[in-house]
Amino acid sequence: MCHGTDGVAKKMAEGSKNFNDPAWKKTATVESIVKETADGKGKMKGFAGKLSPEQMNAIATYVLTLAK
Ligand code: HEM
Repeated sequence: MCHGTDGVAKKMAEGSKNFNDPAWKKTATVESIVKETADGKGKMKGFAGKLSPEQMNAIATYVLTLAK
């Protein structure tokens, strides 16, 4: 509903970069994605406490595989 299955931000993730955008992928790292996922960013609530560090690492690694 938010970042889509392809990583392209949907209405509920308005303001987010697209995860399949090569320019964003150049700057994003597993660490940076885990931090934003844990702490939240802007309108996005954090998942700390809801997802374990291992789960957030796995998601971040997956997110970086998304490509156009
Ligand atoms: C575990 C699942 C999720 C992950 C890994 C994730 C990851 C991210 C990342 C890495 C960003 C920053 C992208 C950038 O640099 O612009 C972001 C932004 C954002 N996400 Fe998520 N997200 C998740 C779930 C959600 C959900 C469920 C929603 C909707 C309710 C959401 C809404 C947003 C919004 C609105 C932003 C933009 C925040 C801002 O810059 O103002 N995300 N997300």
